[in-house]
Parts: sequence; structure tokens; C-alpha cells
Amino acid sequence: MAWAVIPAAGAGRRFGAALPKQYHEVAGRSVLEHSLRAVLDHPDVDGAVIAIAADDPHWPGWREVGGKPVLSCIGGGERADSVLAGLQALPATVDESQWVLVHDAARPCLHRDDLARLLEAGGADAVGALLAAPVRDTLKRAGDDGRSVGTEPRERLWRALTPQLFRRGGLTRALQAALAAGAAVTDEAMAMERMGLKPRLVEGRDDNLKVTTPADLALAEFLLAGRGK
Ligand code: CTP
Ligand code: MG
Repeated sequence: MAWAVIPAAGAGRRFGAALPKQYHEVAGRSVLEHSLRAVLDHPDVDGAVIAIAADDPHWPGWREVGGKPVLSCIGGGERADSVLAGLQALPATVDESQWVLVHDAARPCLHRDDLARLLEAGGADAVGALLAAPVRDTLKRAGDDGRSVGTEPRERLWRALTPQLFRRGGLTRALQAALAAGAAVTDEAMAMERMGLKPRLVEGRDDNLKVTTPADLALAEFLLAGRGK
């Protein structure tokens, strides 16, 4: 059994629209609703907390989606602050040792098979796990002048995706420690790594994209339409 925390408090600066990207419609629903329904779809996910921006006029105020409870809380200045706020807003019945899935509001194309494999592999792991995709492109290191000075071996490099699955207590402490140290943690696994832990990498589909620019929205539309949901 797990609860989900969905950070949805970003302003979407790179997207560059007045309406934050998580509220744009794609394949008949908002990006946020797709992301939320994708995690609630699994029978082991009991409910979700969504971290939204203070005074967000677009938040639809859901209390329940797909028959499961949905809570909301106010996020913070960085993604990690929003995730921490979400963890703190989980119901008291979710104890320290319970699994929490953290999933970006901006990832509407999560596939149910990936979620199932993450819950299975991560739930059996002492530390926890994240979905990740192997790097496929050749990687170049740039010099100060912007010219290529070398090629990085990509064999062991992965792109971190979400959801990421960790225990409520361990993740809370790891994020608090990272924030107290002023470390810019861009995902949950990084906070756990700073504690000396090694999250498990669970290979996920390449098309679990994070909507960052308007072009990504068109791609998400195409991917979701192709799945017929
Ligand atoms: N997020 C959040 N709180 C923040 C920043 C980000 O909850 N202070 C959320 C976003 O809403 C998004 C996810 O974290 O669902 C991933 O962040 P990102 O893709 O960077 O979204 P934004 O920060 O909104 O976009 P940008 O960086 O272009 O401004
Ligand atoms: Mg951001």
C-alpha cells in the first residue's frame, strides 16, 4: 500500500504561458489530472496529496478522484520544498515506514506497467526505487568556449523519471537534511543518495516525458491519444 505526493506548485517558466503547464488540457484532461489518475490507477495506491502554489486560482479543489481521497497543501519555492510539504500533509494513518510515491504533476504519460513494476521492485527494496531510462544519445562535454572537448561514456548513465518510491520517514528526513544544507536536490533519489543510500533504478519507458515546453504538450497529446485514454 502506498500514498502519492504530487508536486504541482511550479510556475512553468520554461513553458512560458500565463496558465501553468500542469493546467493545460491534453487529450481531454488537464496535464495534472492525467498525472494524478495515472498513479491512482494502481490498486495499491490509496490516495494522493497534491502540493499547489499559494493562491493558485486554477486548482479545481478535488477531494476525491477515481473513488480515492485527494488532499491538497501549499507547496514551496523549490520542488523539494513542495514534496516535503506534501509528505507533511499525508494523513496521520500513513506511518513512517509506509511507501510514498512522488510523481511530477508535469508527467501525464506515466504508463500503468511502469507504475506496477516500480511498486513491485521498489516495495521489495530496503531503500526504495525510481523509474529511470538509460541514456541513448552520445554525450558531449563542453569547454568554456562552448566547443566539444570530450565524449562521456553513457553505459551507466540514466535519466531520472518519476514516480520515485521511498518510505515516508526516510524521505522526509533526507529532504529536510538536503534543504537545511542548502543543497539543490532535483529529485527524491538525490536526497536519499546524500544520506549514503543507493536507490534502485527501475527501467521505465522513454515516453514518460516531463512537459517542459509547449512542444512537449503536442507530444503528450500524441502519446495519450495513441493509448486511447
Ligand atoms: N514543482 C513544485 N514546486 C516548485 C517547483 C516545481 O511543485 N516550487 C513541481 C512542478 O509543478 C512540476 C514538477 O515539480 O510538476 C517538476 O518541476 P518542473 O518541470 O521544473 O516544473 P516548473 O518548475 O513548473 O517549470 P520551470 O522549471 O520551467 O519553471
Ligand atoms: Mg522547475
